Amino acid sequence: MLNTHTRYLHEGIVDYAETLTATFPEALSQAMFTCTGSEANDLAVRIARYVTGGTGIIATELAYHGLTSAVAEFSPSLGESVMLGPHVRTVPAPDSYRHSAGETMEKFGRDVRAAIADLRRHGIRPAMLIADTIFSSDGIFDGPKGLLRPAVDAIHEAGGLFVADEVQPGFGRTGEAMWGFERHGVAPDMVTVGKPMGNGYPMAGIVLRPEVIAEFGPRARYFNTFGGNPVAAAAGRAVLDTIRIEGLQRNALEVGRYLMDGLGSLSGRYPAIGDVRGSGLFIGVEIVSDPAVKSADAALTARIVNGLRARRILISASGPRANVLKIRPPLVFSRENADMLLNALDDVLTAP
Ligand SMILES: Cc1ncc(COP(=O)(O)O)c(C=O)c1O
Repeated sequence: MLNTHTRYLHEGIVDYAETLTATFPEALSQAMFTCTGSEANDLAVRIARYVTGGTGIIATELAYHGLTSAVAEFSPSLGESVMLGPHVRTVPAPDSYRHSAGETMEKFGRDVRAAIADLRRHGIRPAMLIADTIFSSDGIFDGPKGLLRPAVDAIHEAGGLFVADEVQPGFGRTGEAMWGFERHGVAPDMVTVGKPMGNGYPMAGIVLRPEVIAEFGPRARYFNTFGGNPVAAAAGRAVLDTIRIEGLQRNALEVGRYLMDGLGSLSGRYPAIGDVRGSGLFIGVEIVSDPAVKSADAALTARIVNGLRARRILISASGPRANVLKIRPPLVFSRENADMLLNALDDVLTAP
């Protein structure tokens, strides 16, 4: 049974909500719609605090979750002049390049437990752990698979909720699954979605478990004038249909593998490429000055990004050391497009 909270009562939003929730594990059966990812995360905080009675939030060290006052408080990538909230704790992203697979997973869980302990020591009850499931702004860490599990167990044991932010990795981009969290075998309490959801049309939302919204729904007044409007519902539906009909998740998987293989070959020729990682069409390439000690080379990274820009290819840099090439092309990216990128990168690396 779906409750709608939009000002526009129409069948389209019910149809869209059902089509969207059908792409999630069964337990995530409810949806609420907003206009931006920031609003979706803002609503997630309100719900988490209502459900848990806590206020504490744990996020990663360079996370970006949005622009509202509440969400900026746990978006440390906004920089040092934007204050983190007193009830916010940050943990390092799981750095699979500098730690073994086992260590990466274990350390992330341990760091979340330490953050929970610190919140409690300050008299703050944890409300939620929020993670972008591929750590987009933290440097793109796709694995090891299952890495979120110990951290999610920790927040659940502490009475908090787990919010998977799928605003960047969602909608088939990671290739193996429609949603990034599925690759880690975890069960989020809420999932926030946005960005590609309307393929340019501003729409976003939360998909959540019925028990999470059961009390908040009837007791806390929430409406969103434009969230879930008829145009948004039609745009969202068209996106889901196109992903399915054109096999874009499979394309992300196949072209992503092809591109990663090509990047792997380049790394054999250019020692500055320290690591190639990612899933589907969400790829990170870590640029180092000395692969033996994995020392970040932010200056070279910027030269590569700008060199590609001069060749009319737009990528960006991510991560705490600003040395990870962030490659996140449209899901219709083809092998020919990948070859064009690889050739240009080869060219730029020859004379950066
Ligand atoms: C992971 C993540 N969450 C949330 C947001 C916020 O979405 P919006 O810009 O639609 O408010 C962004 C935007 O870049 C994002 O990357």
